[in-house]
Amino acid sequence: MYSDLNGKVAVVTGGSKGIGNAIAKRFGNEHMSVVINYHSDEAGAQKAADAVEAEGGRAVIVQADISTEEGAEALLKAAVDNFGGLDVWVNNAGMEIKSPTHESTLDDWKKVTAVDQTGVFLGSKTALNYFVANQKKGNIINMSSVHEQIPWPTFASYAAAKGSVKLFTKTIAMEYADRNIRVNGIGPGAINTPINAEKFADKKQYDKTVSMVPMNRIGTPEEVAAGAAWLASDESSYVTGITLFIDGGMTLYPAFKDGEG
Ligand code: BGC
Repeated sequence: MYSDLNGKVAVVTGGSKGIGNAIAKRFGNEHMSVVINYHSDEAGAQKAADAVEAEGGRAVIVQADISTEEGAEALLKAAVDNFGGLDVWVNNAGMEIKSPTHESTLDDWKKVTAVDQTGVFLGSKTALNYFVANQKKGNIINMSSVHEQIPWPTFASYAAAKGSVKLFTKTIAMEYADRNIRVNGIGPGAINTPINAEKFADKKQYDKTVSMVPMNRIGTPEEVAAGAAWLASDESSYVTGITLFIDGGMTLYPAFKDGEG
């Protein structure tokens, strides 16, 4: 546990399931107050809130579309009204649509980039505005992916959005570094979450994914949440503008692992 996190206020977008859910719980374990955003899964968000409180933190759930300014504003308002301020904002919500690029619809492209790219901009902007206006130390964590670095055929909209998140994170990290605001990304690899449930239910696909991970296993949402807690805490006080890959080595060019090439 990181003692400086005790009593801090966090917003976690997409907190009803998967990695966001694990981050909310971990923040609860750190005795933080957490605004858990959800889009449609109210029951999942409520379960996450109960878990946060069981861990010793406080929580409220807020339905909001984080690809809209009103949505992002509603989350900030919930943090201020319920918990008196904001310290940490995690842009976690994300989605992916598989489709060969030449067949992809503009509508699907817009759906993915609205959440994965525009949502990160709006969440960051809202948090930055609050930190700057209140001359407050701040911390922003953007959920990226190994696919900010690794091209991903048939997921071009997702990879494009994550590539954008990478440079957006670095850019605003630099822009606000001298105002005591740190901004970092996390790049998870293959993690056991609902986004992968269908794929991992198929043993062939599961084994194929495992074979692409040097550590030979799928990661857990809790392993990603541990990185988020570290980045949110003062233990990482001199870290800004990085992507912390939590991927079992997936970004290490596993095809070269036997010294061939
Ligand atoms: C995606 C997963 C995928 C993983 C590794 C993540 O960003 O959300 O669906 O398994 O990257 O390819």
